[in-house]
Amino acid sequence: MITVECRAGENLLRVAERCGVTVPNAEFCFEGSCCLCEMEVQGGAVEVGYRADTSGADLIRSCICPVPKGRKIVDVNVLSEDNVWGEGVL
Ligand code: FES
Repeated sequence: MITVECRAGENLLRVAERCGVTVPNAEFCFEGSCCLCEMEVQGGAVEVGYRADTSGADLIRSCICPVPKGRKIVDVNVLSEDNVWGEGVL
């Protein structure tokens, strides 16, 4: 588990990258269509500008999801040992 400071509204994928997490091919998407950047957010988060039916879900695409209001620290749990995205928990 990695703990990193963040600002409300900051992009969750960028926060994860700051923790050293590499998301394969994310630079070619970054718009919510490939799902490679999915992570689980404890307490839920809201994706912006894609599917309304995922709002508030725990499993989100981090490239289109800001840090929820009120959060100043997030915990990232990277499950794969080679730092390639497997599953994550914020
Ligand atoms: S990078 Fe493709 S959905 Fe997030």
